[in-house]
Amino acid sequence: MAVVQKMDISHSNAAGLTIAPADGPFGAVVRGVDLRLPLDTETAGRIRVALVTQGVVAFPDQKLDDDDLERVSLTFGPFGDDPYIRPIPDRKHIAAIRRRANETAPLFAENWHSDWSFLEIPPAFTCLYGIDIPPVGGDTWYANQQMAYDRMPADLRAKLEGVIAVHSARGGYAPKGQYGERDIGRSMDIVHSETAMATQRHPLVRAHPETGRRAIFSTHGYIIALENCEDGDALLREVVKWQTPDEVVYRHKWAPNMLVIWDNRVVLHRATGGYDGHDRLLHRTTIADRRT
Ligand SMILES: [Fe+2]
Repeated sequence: MAVVQKMDISHSNAAGLTIAPADGPFGAVVRGVDLRLPLDTETAGRIRVALVTQGVVAFPDQKLDDDDLERVSLTFGPFGDDPYIRPIPDRKHIAAIRRRANETAPLFAENWHSDWSFLEIPPAFTCLYGIDIPPVGGDTWYANQQMAYDRMPADLRAKLEGVIAVHSARGGYAPKGQYGERDIGRSMDIVHSETAMATQRHPLVRAHPETGRRAIFSTHGYIIALENCEDGDALLREVVKWQTPDEVVYRHKWAPNMLVIWDNRVVLHRATGGYDGHDRLLHRTTIADRRT
């Protein structure tokens, strides 16, 4: 098994920007920048390098409104498509990730996933800004799929060459899906639709367009089948076993006024609970990938 090295991404410059490793096997924390102001080219470039190499970048202590969130998001590319979650009033590209203190619906997005991997061009990045953050629980977990791929035995990696994954939103957003017509009492503005039955094919292993590093893309859930291989169901079960071991997982702790941006081509993520009795609200945007 390949040893996974934690990359040194530490950086500081005269303008006060510091980029330090997060408290986990990957991820970065950026300080010394005020995201209410436009980012200069060098700073934006440094942050982008941290983002695409580390997969997750957190910006603590940023007092942002929705205009700021939109502007920061657009630093990293144009907005992506966001099906199935209605945007907040007067904003086309901001979704509210919300849970009320007394809500009893199952937790949203508790399964590992890569955002909207069932789209023809899934989003490169997701930006999530913490507004109401409970004092306990609600961590977001990230699993680095480049590290996961590197830890796989060589014969398993060889088996994945040329394998095509069939993706669909049906398990979540079709009328009979997890967030479909039986999902009641949820405060998030989810719109289920028959369009979620559509399928989309992507290579199971993809090279990152900016770093060239290979990663497993998405996971069981949005992936409903594997093609171009023998016994796709068994192979998918085997792949899933390698995707989220502790060695490749970073458990992110939120604070109010914290922005987190992650690269969906590098990491899987999942929500966690543990904050019953507390309201939780974050605002989210997605950033489009380039057509390759
Ligand atoms: Fe998500």
